[in-house]
Formats: sequence, structure tokens, C-alpha cells
Amino acid sequence: MFVVLVLVGALSLCNAYPNGAPKDACATMMPGHKYANLTTVHAQTTPSPYKVMVASSQYSPGATLKVMIVGPQFEGFLLQARHNGNTAPVGAFSNPPTDTKAVTCTSGSDSMTHANPNAKQNITLTWTAPSDARADVMFIATVAQEKNMFWLNNTSPMVTLAQGYKKEVYGNDV
Ligand SMILES: *[C@@H]1O[C@H](CO)[C@@H](O)[C@H](O)[C@H]1NC(C)=O
Ligand SMILES: *[C@@H]1O[C@H](CO)[C@@H](O)[C@H](O)[C@H]1NC(C)=O
Ligand SMILES: *[C@@H]1O[C@H](CO)[C@@H](O)[C@H](O)[C@H]1NC(C)=O
Repeated sequence: MFVVLVLVGALSLCNAYPNGAPKDACATMMPGHKYANLTTVHAQTTPSPYKVMVASSQYSPGATLKVMIVGPQFEGFLLQARHNGNTAPVGAFSNPPTDTKAVTCTSGSDSMTHANPNAKQNITLTWTAPSDARADVMFIATVAQEKNMFWLNNTSPMVTLAQGYKKEVYGNDV
């Protein structure tokens, strides 16, 4: 009941989801915005103007890394760390910069999203790896320049787990 009310409430806003991505978006990272005629707004198919950059190409369990979304000003986003080819978020975010917030998709503060539609640019997010990390990670984001214009699958380069830790392999990791 609560979920239904929240969804109906969100859809009726003319600026859908001004306060962050809905939980439905956790796995697909699709904002689920609708036009006034209720058809779904699709992702842009042009090359994305956004890059997700990570301060380091390697990490250790429990380490904290800075992750940046770089590009033109944008209003909304959803960003997670994931194992290659897997939709479950990994690790936790802290110290959300202005106009952003950490949210829970699976557990803890495992995802970051916008707190409002204010213009944002080149934001830096703070991620902490699980203390029992076992695999390489990448960061993936949906970035909405404006409500009806968003790019999916903005991915960072792979961040490899430092040598010496017991490793699990996902997707095409080596
Ligand atoms: C719904 O509205 C959008 C935006 O105005 C338009 O591009 C799309 O073609 C419309 N779809 C239908 C089925 O009318
Ligand atoms: C954002 O980063 C890009 C690429 O590094 C840079 O060209 C641009 O000036 C930066 N914009 C701001 C507002 O920092
Ligand atoms: C995003 O990635 C997923 C999984 O790799 C793929 O199914 C989907 O088609 C991609 N979407 C776009 C817009 O590139």
C-alpha cells in the first residue's frame, strides 16, 4: 500500500523524482520517468557526455576511494559499485556532497543519488570497499542532464582488487 501511494505520488509530480531515484531503479538504473502521455522516457542513444572516474585503479578490502562524475551540468543520477555483469551494489558511500544523498538498494548506503534537481557538476563521491572484498569492482551510473534526457551505463574502468586477497571472478575479469 505504502509503495503504491509513493509511486502514484511520484508519477504525479511534473518533475518526476526530484528527490532521488526510486527504489525500482536499483537493478535497472532506469529512472522510469514518463511523459505527460504516460509513455516511458528512453535513455539517450548518443555517446554519453559523462564519464565516471575513480582516483585509483586498484583497491584493498576496507579502503576508501573517490569517484567522480565528470561532464556537463546535470540534475539527477544514480551510482553504484558493482562486480562485472552483476546488478548487486557493493560497498558503502559516505560524506555525500551538496545536493546528493546516500540511499539503500540492498543494504546500508550502497548507492548514491541526487537529493534535489539543482544543477550539479563534477561531483566527487566517497566509497568504502567491504572489509571482506573478494572481487574487482566497477562504478556504474545513470546520469540525467534533465528529466527527459538521461544516459545509462556510464561505467568507470575496472578497479582491481589488490593482489594477495582471495579472489572471486565475475564476468570478464581477469
Ligand atoms: C508521448 O510524448 C512524447 C513527448 O512529447 C512523444 O515523443 C511521444 O511520441 C508520445 N508518445 C505517444 C504514444 O503519443
Ligand atoms: C569539470 O571537469 C571537466 C573535465 O575535467 C573540466 O573541463 C570542467 O572545467 C570541470 N567543470 C567544473 C565546473 O569544475
Ligand atoms: C546497459 O547495459 C545493460 C547490461 O549490460 C544492457 O542490457 C543495456 O542494453 C545497456 N543499455 C544501454 C542504453 O546501453
